[in-house]
Amino acid sequence: MEVIITKNYEEMSRVSAELIAREIKRKHDLVLGLATGDTPVGTYKGLVRLHKEEGLDFSKLTVFNLDEYVGLAPLHENSYNRFMWENLFSHVNITPENVYVPQGNTDDPEEFCRWYEAQIRDAGGIDLQILGIGGDGHIAFNEPGSSFASRTRIKALDKQTIEDNSRFFKKIEDVPRFAITMGIGTILEARSIILIANGKKKANVCVQFIEGPVTSQVTASALQLHTHVTIVLDDEASSQLKRKEYYNWVRDNKHIVAKKIGR
Ligand code: F6R
Repeated sequence: MEVIITKNYEEMSRVSAELIAREIKRKHDLVLGLATGDTPVGTYKGLVRLHKEEGLDFSKLTVFNLDEYVGLAPLHENSYNRFMWENLFSHVNITPENVYVPQGNTDDPEEFCRWYEAQIRDAGGIDLQILGIGGDGHIAFNEPGSSFASRTRIKALDKQTIEDNSRFFKKIEDVPRFAITMGIGTILEARSIILIANGKKKANVCVQFIEGPVTSQVTASALQLHTHVTIVLDDEASSQLKRKEYYNWVRDNKHIVAKKIGR
């Protein structure tokens, strides 16, 4: 896992947007997995800027979102579908037919989850998956204890996640108790992964998943099993890491490292 430590939220957002843009330029029909939440808002702003100012082309992309609350219709004010249109899709030249967000109000969630997995497979698999991390160490809505082999399914949300996400709702009772989420097995099949995190409140889970043991109690630690993960943190989120000096050395000497490994 490559760990990139940035000064602040703005730099984390700029660096992650540039990494995503590089992949879009390399492969115009990239299959991109996307996350919602506070963390990627700046990254999406950065992508919108690159589209408007530099013509970054989204027209051939296929996107799959990680998750959606069960029970919320696509246009509900708190739906992740709406979040994505408001923060990214409406501002770039994405092709609407190529946008996949789990449908929270489906009549048959099990069948829907099977269909979603099949769509990912039919698109050729996810090339690049963007992730945030929850206060309990979750990626997507894979709460502590989730199987590392899990696929897209319904997951009951943890108490901490419900509390954390209640800030988006009028009252905590309005936060849905369940979500449709890609599984850890689904995420680990992405060819490459970028996880972004910022703020003091993420420092503890960041040190656990990056430098701690692989455990289903911190599901982000499953990323240690993947060969192509980049983690972009701001200074606060990186504050408890013990090997910061090493990560910074690798970053500053990347040209030498690239030569050694033949990239
Ligand atoms: C959302 C998702 C979640 C969030 C995580 C962090 O699609 O997959 O795992 O990334 O809960 O949320 P924020 O960014 O709001 O702290």
